[in-house]
Amino acid sequence: MKRLVALPSLAAAALVVLLVALADAEDRPDRSQVAAAAFIDVAKVLLSPRCRNCHPTDDVPLQRDEGVPHAQNVSRRSEKNGLRCTACHRHENSPVPGGPPGVKGWRMPPAATPMVFVGRTPHQLCEQLKDKKATGDRDLEAIFHHLAEDELVLWGWRAGPGRKPPPVPHDVFVARVRAWIDNGAACPP
Ligand code: HEC
Ligand code: HEC
Repeated sequence: MKRLVALPSLAAAALVVLLVALADAEDRPDRSQVAAAAFIDVAKVLLSPRCRNCHPTDDVPLQRDEGVPHAQNVSRRSEKNGLRCTACHRHENSPVPGGPPGVKGWRMPPAATPMVFVGRTPHQLCEQLKDKKATGDRDLEAIFHHLAEDELVLWGWRAGPGRKPPPVPHDVFVARVRAWIDNGAACPP
């Protein structure tokens, strides 16, 4: 008699466990959603003036928050013709507002892999970082190290007088890049 009562209540308990598990799975975002959400913050940094000014659509770097073309006809061509970026951009920021900012190795990305940020959607930026043709064969771990440690990237957060940093602190940015990669590097739609 006891067993007859216990059986249906056991079945009921099992059903409850199953329903709770299903509801849980629905609430918990899957890994690709976590990755895509993390990349939205990454894109905010890439599209901020300090980063996009060196990652334009053509050969001309940009200046200021508005992203106006660089003064003095500076471009990849002028660099080739002998006017080096480093003639003005030294190893340190100019202490004078409007003076040339600087850090070791100031230059544009190579023409063959220009790594364009200007005008790109978060989705396009994400796909570009995963495309080894666009990154010069660098994998995601190499991209991670670049974003965590490269001097040109770190410069964005200490850009000299009058230049505001990207909208996300560097340590949070690095953690979001890590979360994007560790969750499968899915892209936002
Ligand atoms: C002074 C110009 C300059 C600035 C400013 C700059 N970059 Fe770059 N960026 C480069 C160059 C040059 C490369 C190519 C690196 C190489 O070939 O070693 C590059 C490459 C990259 C890449 C591709 C990864 C790779 O390993 O090549 C990413 C991503 C990137 N930059 C992100 C940023 C971010 C984020 C910022 C702002 C915080 C930024 N960059 C600011 C010049 C710049
Ligand atoms: C003749 C001097 C000179 C040369 C050569 C030069 N620059 Fe500049 N650059 C400046 C000055 C001055 C500024 C600061 C302008 C301002 O902030 O109003 C500047 C600002 C910039 C900025 C904007 C930084 C920011 O986000 O505020 C970028 C990017 C840049 N230069 C890239 C380059 C690159 C790449 C080269 C070489 C292809 C180069 N420059 C060559 C003088 C020069």
